[in-house]
Amino acid sequence: MTAALSVRAVSKRYGSTTALDAVDLQVGAGELVGLLGPNGAGKSTLVKIACGLVRPTSGEVEVAGAPAGSRVARASLGYLAELFRFPGWARADEVLALHQRLARSDGGAAERETLLARVGLDGEGGRRMETMSKGMQQRLGIAQALIGDPRLVLLDEPTSALDPGGRRTVRDLLVGLREQGVGVLLNSHLLSEVELVCDRVVIVDGGRVVTEGPPERLTSPGGVEVETGDGVRRLPNARREDVPRIVRELVDGGSEIYGVRVISGTLEDAYLAAVTGRDR
Ligand SMILES: Nc1ncnc2c1ncn2[C@@H]1O[C@H](COP(=O)(O)OP(=O)(O)OP(=O)(O)O)[C@@H](O)[C@H]1O
Ligand SMILES: [Mg+2]
Repeated sequence: MTAALSVRAVSKRYGSTTALDAVDLQVGAGELVGLLGPNGAGKSTLVKIACGLVRPTSGEVEVAGAPAGSRVARASLGYLAELFRFPGWARADEVLALHQRLARSDGGAAERETLLARVGLDGEGGRRMETMSKGMQQRLGIAQALIGDPRLVLLDEPTSALDPGGRRTVRDLLVGLREQGVGVLLNSHLLSEVELVCDRVVIVDGGRVVTEGPPERLTSPGGVEVETGDGVRRLPNARREDVPRIVRELVDGGSEIYGVRVISGTLEDAYLAAVTGRDR
């Protein structure tokens, strides 16, 4: 099956600044990939190259099998820019209608209503941008990115302004996209969210991919905690497979067990280990 996004050996230089250096990245159909990295790492540059807004200095980029920037590629993707702004006078419905025209979607009012509902803005189509909170505008921005059922959705920090309820809404929406076979590249600094929803993460630093893999493979085990009648015991070097033996030994030794927890490291730990201490 054709990948939703295929990036091969892409480099981008702005004068003497190397924003991307031989980056390879794939997003499969129905795959949710988190793109992480420090400020200035090159994440937005990569997303703009995928959109065809920025031309790579070298390398190949394809969206749904078509060269990035081509008409087919542009028609196959939805994009929410990191610093977007809709005109204050426009109503939510007008913003969506404009983007429907730009995307050549014939979904009409039904598509606009469905999209507003998907981002938790049901019935808000008549609201002007200037009366909407930042989070509401961000929700609208996500709705805009989904116009025309794109095969690839590029979201550059889509939840930075959202409240916890809004983040949950977006997480559910992303899971729905995965089920529909849409590829998603999610650029975010909210690692706990990325960890919850992404199939795979790619960490970039200084324009290079420094680590990638499923979140659970990147995080390291953090030991086992056992709650006994004498209190909580922490066994920092124990792993999940040690639990039966630990419990047996404690019970044989006369302890009562009230709970056992296998602790895993967080994606944040893995991220910091991957990027800290590198020259930038
Ligand atoms: N149009 C441009 N002209 C010159 N340099 C640029 C341009 N756009 C980006 N850069 C540089 O390219 C590098 C990567 O920037 P980019 O915006 O891709 O980072 P980012 O990973 O998205 O960071 P952030 O987390 O802050 O959004 C930075 O050094 C930045 O200064
Ligand atoms: Mg950015």
